[in-house]
Amino acid sequence: MFSALTLGLAASLASPAMAFWRMPCPGNLIHERADPIVSPGQISGHVHTIMGGNGFGFDMTYQQARNSQCSSCPITKDMSNYWVPTLYYHAQNGSFISVPQVGGATVYYEQRGGPNNDQLLAFPEGFRMLAGNPFLHTYNDTFEQQAVSYACLNYNGPATAETHAFPNNNCPDGLRAQVYFPSCWDGVNLDSPDHKSHVAYPESVAYNDGPCPASHPKHLISLFYEVIWDVNQFANDWYGDEQPFVWSSGDATGYGYHGDFVNGWDVPTLQNAVDTCLADSGALTDCPVFELYDDSFCQSCKIPPSVDEQVDGVLEFLPGCNAYNDGKTVGSTQGCVNNAKIGQPETFYTDLTHSMGWEYAGCASDNYFTRTLNGYSFSDDAMTVEKCVQGCSAKGYTYAGTEYASQCYCDNSVLSGRAPIPGVMGQCTMKCNGDDGEYCGGSGALSLYQKCGGSCQNAQYGVVGNSTSTTSATSSGTSSVPLSTGTTGATSRRAVHRRARHGNRWDM
Ligand SMILES: *[C@@H]1O[C@H](CO)[C@@H](O)[C@H](O)[C@H]1NC(C)=O
Ligand SMILES: *[C@@H]1O[C@H](CO)[C@@H](O)[C@H](O)[C@H]1NC(C)=O
Ligand SMILES: *[C@@H]1O[C@H](CO)[C@@H](O)[C@H](O)[C@H]1NC(C)=O
Repeated sequence: MFSALTLGLAASLASPAMAFWRMPCPGNLIHERADPIVSPGQISGHVHTIMGGNGFGFDMTYQQARNSQCSSCPITKDMSNYWVPTLYYHAQNGSFISVPQVGGATVYYEQRGGPNNDQLLAFPEGFRMLAGNPFLHTYNDTFEQQAVSYACLNYNGPATAETHAFPNNNCPDGLRAQVYFPSCWDGVNLDSPDHKSHVAYPESVAYNDGPCPASHPKHLISLFYEVIWDVNQFANDWYGDEQPFVWSSGDATGYGYHGDFVNGWDVPTLQNAVDTCLADSGALTDCPVFELYDDSFCQSCKIPPSVDEQVDGVLEFLPGCNAYNDGKTVGSTQGCVNNAKIGQPETFYTDLTHSMGWEYAGCASDNYFTRTLNGYSFSDDAMTVEKCVQGCSAKGYTYAGTEYASQCYCDNSVLSGRAPIPGVMGQCTMKCNGDDGEYCGGSGALSLYQKCGGSCQNAQYGVVGNSTSTTSATSSGTSSVPLSTGTTGATSRRAVHRRARHGNRWDM
């Protein structure tokens, strides 16, 4: 009797109603008009900010997600993709300016079984879903609309109530956009024509915790996204009576916010976490089921753009020619041309295999205090990839790396733990000071070239589109991955066509 009471008490203390884990994703893969759920194989209607595994593509399967070689989110067994629309500032002259993020995205997994404490299920293989509706510009107090909300962050001021519309005041610490997914599933369909009707919000109590309707009896783990946008950068640029921000879809009310999810979990791992990660701290480190990538590895997980259109910076029109819509007025898109196509993924290296007999070995990490290449270095205000490789080659070195637009480093070996990780694109996206058609590393990132030994083949990265890769990332960012001679990465990785690119397109 006594022990049963104790057990009962212990069980209620560990109540799953309190349990959750909070996954901070420090980076994102790309901003692009891609949406494999709504527009498979095509350019999507508006720009998305996309997180998760680099198996993401315009058309993708569960297996492609699982084949990812890295993720911008830290749980190694989760290669899912999470995406949301991108935020723009709408200037008084009609231009649109992309709003940077504060940090990355945070994805919450919450054990919310409703009043009956339902058994909770992991997302099955192949499962995908949408939450929210980009075409809404009005508010109807349904669970679907309650599930979209905004927190206007001001850490030095009084807390303000969350809103369902964009708040009409500045948010000094950022605008946190939030979307809560439906947690009830029909138990049969992995997707549905509208990408929503196979799932449902609870039938009563609350959008984020309640009993499931009979039509959707299976209770899933609950999914919730938070993304913070640095609206404070535009604090002095407000005009008129209305807040000046707009989603990439054109929605200026905020009601059109939405989120997309493609499952890329190792499903038994997710189910294990759903069943056993019952801490109410939310900390990933309190869940022994998870192994984690470090932040720098997540941040180096990028995918190259395949749509040749500008999506960041100052734009005359929203990509896709989406009209500004604040529910009262619709902006003009006269003169906007919407003819962008999906092309070959952009490359961020120079092909020297024929001209110089050197190959691109990938994007390595570097550090001011302990350099990755230590044989010789020089800088040049007119640095190019060729200058660096020639400089190192002339001194007899077999590795050359460009960094931070103007620096060049040489050596005959790469410091242990710093080699490029096969399949991971990295952050070598800074243009060379001497040629803005070439890339010369980045901040703490080295575009690494190697004298060819035998075969001569540039490193490949990204598994955009229809990859048949079977390798998966198992290393953390701090571990050492040996550089192979002649080639990096698995032969199964999809060939990426080389293409010189001179537009200014990449500024993530
Ligand atoms: C419109 O205004 C924005 C910000 O004030 C500015 O950056 C942009 O260059 C302007 N566009 C045009 C076409 O004048
Ligand atoms: C608002 O939602 C309710 C409940 O779903 C629905 O019956 C009603 O038609 C909706 N109204 C509008 C204007 O969409
Ligand atoms: C992806 O590759 C498979 C196997 O090669 C092929 O059957 C399928 O049609 C491809 N899908 C697309 C969208 O290209």
